[in-house]
Amino acid sequence: MRASSRTGNAVPAGGPGRNCALCPRLKAYREENRKIEPSWHNAPVPSFGAKNARLLIVGLAPGVRGANRTGRPFTGDYAGDLLYATLKEFGFAHGVYAADPKDGLELADCRITNAVRCVPPQNKPLPLEMTACRPFLQASIGEMENLQAVVALGRIAHESTLRTLGEKLSAFPFGHGAVHEVTEGVRKLQLFDSYHCSRYNTNTGVLTTDMFRNVFAKIRATIG
Ligand code: URA
Repeated sequence: MRASSRTGNAVPAGGPGRNCALCPRLKAYREENRKIEPSWHNAPVPSFGAKNARLLIVGLAPGVRGANRTGRPFTGDYAGDLLYATLKEFGFAHGVYAADPKDGLELADCRITNAVRCVPPQNKPLPLEMTACRPFLQASIGEMENLQAVVALGRIAHESTLRTLGEKLSAFPFGHGAVHEVTEGVRKLQLFDSYHCSRYNTNTGVLTTDMFRNVFAKIRATIG
């Protein structure tokens, strides 16, 4: 165990271990998946990207056949197709995204993490599980010395980020395209909200490609 540099909270260095047992339901689901698909990652999915990035993207949780299978956030998930294409368009990623951690895709000044590191049944983490995993999000934010902007993908990621920072939820209502100035320790961060780039949201038109692109255009215009 070590203390996160900015938050002072003791969490395992490098995130939760492969057999993290903080959430009994998620542990049981992981063990089930390990039996059915032993070649899959089936473990907490680590953040992707360098700690010195200025931008952090916070997703919800790994998808069972996506990040839980491949071990890289949004990789192999339907949501990853739109996310990585958009990151490439705005210069936050370079290379080819081939839905495989070995595709060589590199993030540029950007890091991706999830509010919950383990795959939840039906893609729905419980409030207790969000709370249990929060120290890892807190540590990820705390160790990013150059962090300027956070993108919350969806209301749950937005609320988890606010709770992590100790901010009042009522002071920063979630809204697609909203930008909030939040505080982490002695520094200010810009929190950008977006609807989650899930298959459901894109198929139902809740989130269009342009709506998603506009969020990243705003981030680029803000952090340069
Ligand atoms: N895959 C992830 O890693 N996170 C999400 O929020 C969705 C899919």
